[in-house]
Amino acid sequence: MNATEEAEALKMLFRNQHAFLIPKIMLTASDLGVFDLLMESKEPLTSVTIAERLGTSPFGMERLLDACVGYKFLQVERKDNQTLYGNTNLANLYLGKRSPRTQYYSLKFSAEFTYMRAQHLADAVREGEPQTYRINDISTRNFYEAFYRTESGLREFMKLMHEMWRLWSGVVLNAFDLSHFPLVCDVGGCTGALANKCISLYPNSTVTIFDLPEVVETGKKHFVSSEEHRITFHGGDFFKDPIPEADLYILSRTLHCFADEKCVQLLTRLHKACKPGGGVLIVERVLNEDRTGPLEAQIYGLVMLLITQGKERTPSEYNVFLNAAGFKEIQQKKTGHFDAILGRK
Ligand SMILES: C[S@@+](CC[C@H](N)C(=O)[O-])C[C@H]1O[C@@H](n2cnc3c(N)ncnc32)[C@H](O)[C@@H]1O
Repeated sequence: MNATEEAEALKMLFRNQHAFLIPKIMLTASDLGVFDLLMESKEPLTSVTIAERLGTSPFGMERLLDACVGYKFLQVERKDNQTLYGNTNLANLYLGKRSPRTQYYSLKFSAEFTYMRAQHLADAVREGEPQTYRINDISTRNFYEAFYRTESGLREFMKLMHEMWRLWSGVVLNAFDLSHFPLVCDVGGCTGALANKCISLYPNSTVTIFDLPEVVETGKKHFVSSEEHRITFHGGDFFKDPIPEADLYILSRTLHCFADEKCVQLLTRLHKACKPGGGVLIVERVLNEDRTGPLEAQIYGLVMLLITQGKERTPSEYNVFLNAAGFKEIQQKKTGHFDAILGRK
């Protein structure tokens, strides 16, 4: 290793050593209102003004703002002998609670829920088991039971699921032409974010959201307009209860929550209920076949280890499931953050 390579390796070491603080920094600045204040003030502000307006100590606020500059959530300029802080595009778009495409609940999930469980990462690797049961008095290893124990937990989880689709629903549902699947069932459809996009992209489609009864009730109350007659709800357990007949089943970010045998069990149930000529659309972060990336899928694989019995998978792993369940003509499209895999009956 030459001196430049060693300097680079050391830089990586020190950066990564503190990387666990990144979601904490983003969430803290978002929660305290830094990004919203700077977005709404339309001009950069000094750290003293920001602290004053947000009711914090100037000493602490300056440290937080400097860290945000380091990670390029904020930018600084010098004017009249003063340092002025302003949002970067990233903060304006995604980090403010009132940003148009805010990812606030995603930050909160990483900085609080995942962060707590990450204290037990070594246990998770040793046991190959989620660590939810180690936190507080929760005895369940079922992620959903843990999250849905309270109304506020359920609502927060649903907001987390919902906000991501402000960014990606269009590309994912345009990956394949779905116009010849008029009757769609979004299995584990949660807030109906994909259902809404589906009916707006495909004017002849109707969508049933199939999810656990408490999710369906909350979805009806808080997320889907009652005026929307092309979306219907079906509460039940997709491992036990009858699956509504459909031309297309969407399974988005759901298989990655479950162990292999459960995935095959669910896909087999969908295949049985599927109309002839219909299909299933899987939406997931898919690992490269040689497992070299993408980083988001590799990291999420670890997050899934901490919180569920599932994982992120390669295209051939999904192919094995789909074949075992009876689906054929499998096609995969990379769409950026999430990939789409279509199998036909
Ligand atoms: C990770 S979320 C994905 C939500 C949504 N598909 C999306 O991409 O935003 C998985 C969904 O599956 C639902 N789910 C989990 N187990 C279920 C079961 N046994 N029966 C029905 N729905 C279930 C959860 O309530 C949740 O809405």
